[in-house]
Amino acid sequence: MSDEKKKLRSTAWFGPANKDGFLHRSWMKNQGVPDDNFDGRPVIGICNTWSDLTPCNAHFRDLAERVKRGVYEAGGFPVEFPVSSLGEPTMRPTAMLFRNLASMDVEEAIRAHPIDGVVLLVGCDKTTPSLMMGAASCDLPTICLSGGPMLNGKFRGRDIGSGTDVWKFDQAVKAGEMSLDDFMDAESGMSRSVGHCMTMGTASTMASMVESIGMGMPENAAIPAADARRYRLAQIVGRRIVSMVHEDLKMSKIVTRAAMENAIRTNAAIGGSTNAVVHLLALAGRLGVDLTLDDWDQLGRDVPTVVDLMPSGRFLMEDFYYAGGVPAVIRRLGEADMLNRDAVTVNGQTIWENNKDADNWDEEVIRPFDNALLASGGIAVLRGNLSPKGAIIKPSAATPELMKHRGRAVVFTSIEDYKARIEDPDLDIDENCVMVLQYCGPKGYPGMAEVGNMGLPPKVLQKGITDMVRISDARMSGTAYGTVILHTAPEAAAGGVLALVQDGDMIELDVEARHMHLDVSDEELARRRENWTAPESAMPGGYQKLYFDHVLQADQGVDFDFLVGCRGAEVPRDSH
Ligand code: FES
Repeated sequence: MSDEKKKLRSTAWFGPANKDGFLHRSWMKNQGVPDDNFDGRPVIGICNTWSDLTPCNAHFRDLAERVKRGVYEAGGFPVEFPVSSLGEPTMRPTAMLFRNLASMDVEEAIRAHPIDGVVLLVGCDKTTPSLMMGAASCDLPTICLSGGPMLNGKFRGRDIGSGTDVWKFDQAVKAGEMSLDDFMDAESGMSRSVGHCMTMGTASTMASMVESIGMGMPENAAIPAADARRYRLAQIVGRRIVSMVHEDLKMSKIVTRAAMENAIRTNAAIGGSTNAVVHLLALAGRLGVDLTLDDWDQLGRDVPTVVDLMPSGRFLMEDFYYAGGVPAVIRRLGEADMLNRDAVTVNGQTIWENNKDADNWDEEVIRPFDNALLASGGIAVLRGNLSPKGAIIKPSAATPELMKHRGRAVVFTSIEDYKARIEDPDLDIDENCVMVLQYCGPKGYPGMAEVGNMGLPPKVLQKGITDMVRISDARMSGTAYGTVILHTAPEAAAGGVLALVQDGDMIELDVEARHMHLDVSDEELARRRENWTAPESAMPGGYQKLYFDHVLQADQGVDFDFLVGCRGAEVPRDSH
């Protein structure tokens, strides 16, 4: 056996000619594995989030088979293993509650097994960050393969986008502009192929983050799930991960500060989801990369949003792929001197080498910088007495006239309170009010649900008004839009000032100045705080109690305090 083979992690399991080696090899052989697969070749774990209950990832067993082909071709030994799968549309109370749990599953599964390199099969929203976070804490050679978006939704002769058009149709029904029968008819046309949401929602955003951070191969983000080129990519990924093991190209060599900066700028250019903020902050924390909430504001501020996709714009991921996808965007960033060109990617080349010749085939979908959808994209971070640790807004999804606003607060103390009262014709609210939602943050919900884009009251919608200022400690679906201030930190349940807001208080918003202010005196706030009681975990035990006790605030990525950091792949107290 060569020195390189002896150094492989898996050799500690499959190498020894003794009782332990017998145990590790013999049971694997019940799957028909030939002897030579244990000869010191790289063992590649294929970390699969397939589940019938995660419809966006339901095609992943096929994808895994294609990865295996590539691994075999390159002389590796593929082993597929399941981890927790987080299906956004089905999990209650919210898939985000389980992101950290899934990341623990991934980290421990990788470390516990004879794996030299990992392919992460990611798709639906939280499956991408949870797998990346878990793998980062082990830091083996790792490559992400996204499952790809669904084909464009179709309804009565026009394209409709996952999520985005659901919110629109729902508002239209409430405004009396769409019948319930038509609403139900749209359902099948929206999700008509394998794959994840095809708007620039969280899944497509995170797939684009994978590509721009360098953790995925070029074109990873946008190839539709149903396109044969997705399978080609899977096979190439299988080949490539074997080489990454030979090159010892670990995750920490790719996910650097420079790579994170590239991802943040890409997020601004594509009009990506606000959810990327908490996910990338958490990922940075796992690898010790110095990244803060303010980096999001500063790095994205001068980047124009050029990708004209829903929810900010008009088109969908299928159009984005045909137009040139993320490579065309990265080329634009590089040409505008907004790219760390030397950042290394999983294929061993730099991000610039990969993308410098990328074509843009449709300047309606990927617009030129001088004809951008929004001159200043990115995520704005708002501070003030209501959010001393920051709150965020996505200007590309907001109404320009509302970005500077002063209004009277109408407070909902929970999402249940909101649902119970929002349709009440006697609710004292008009379009100039500021809707405030409390106790929907990391601890408060728990799980920081995607409820920050709470719908408008029907009596306002019926006037033809489609947007109002909304403030919460919650998140918002990446497919949603509006003048919605999210991730307020500290959250209400952690004693943030958000908990002290009352009906009738005046709130000032000035996005340009990055400021948000509750116009109530410090003395009055101190008096209100004396009457405030910190909530307890809704569940007295189990995972949810662990979550409540250890979850960090939004400005720190909503990770668990004890999961921050890289613990490596060495098995502690290995008795073998
Ligand atoms: Fe899975 Fe949108 S619900 S990606």
